[in-house]
Amino acid sequence: MTLPEGTPETNSAAPAAPQELTWKPVVEEGPPASPMFDELTRQRTKEIIARYPQPRSALLPLLHLVQSVEGFVSQDGIRYCAEALELSTAEVAAVVTFYTMYKRSPCGQHLVSVCTNTLCAALGGDEIYRRLSEKLGVGHEETAGEPGSPGSITLEHAECLAACDLAPVVQVNYEYFDNQTTESATELVEALQRDEKPHPTRGAPLTDFRTAELELAGIHGDLEQSVEGPSAAKETLRGVQLAAECGWVAPSLPAEPPALPPLPEKK
Ligand code: FES
Repeated sequence: MTLPEGTPETNSAAPAAPQELTWKPVVEEGPPASPMFDELTRQRTKEIIARYPQPRSALLPLLHLVQSVEGFVSQDGIRYCAEALELSTAEVAAVVTFYTMYKRSPCGQHLVSVCTNTLCAALGGDEIYRRLSEKLGVGHEETAGEPGSPGSITLEHAECLAACDLAPVVQVNYEYFDNQTTESATELVEALQRDEKPHPTRGAPLTDFRTAELELAGIHGDLEQSVEGPSAAKETLRGVQLAAECGWVAPSLPAEPPALPPLPEKK
């Protein structure tokens, strides 16, 4: 190329050329699915897939099954689901990376989720998260202790956990601990580190992350026990009670649904 007259051949002030980016695939080339996926897991996989008219519909519970085995979803786990459901690894990886319930690194015996959404944050959720993060010496989605070992804890901050009337809320393995304070949340975490299992405010007795994941996959050892426990809090029922005391009732539905307004004509 001929430079215009007077143009220096080199310009030391010019920005350096950008470094070539190396693209790292979510699923790297590798050996076939891990031997961790043993015969029992393969049987459970078939059982889950058989629940759906289309195999691909089983992806979400199958990923929970993988987490019950591995404590997270590894690249082997992604390959395992892809093979079982005849999907591409890219399709499975897209789902894993979209939903926060699928973890990309090994979790502790317990997953502690602190709601830091608006209402919980304003009522102390931010302070609870900060205190637990300091105590455990970890940040979001990091694990204190050897992942999977007794007393190990993965901490995360969570979006609204659908219990705003009981804010601030903490979940352990998705079981609720309502109306928390920094002190009660600290005591909760200390009990977990001692390998104790405090009873949640509502819901079933506490297990551990992997057992909870197996239940989320729809595999229950003892279904009665895994759903045993109060599911509604008095704060949640207060509106219903107040309406009953005051004789308030919702207007009954019309016998015929009202006609929908006509759609505007397309031009
Ligand atoms: S804001 Fe925390 S449960 Fe809704």
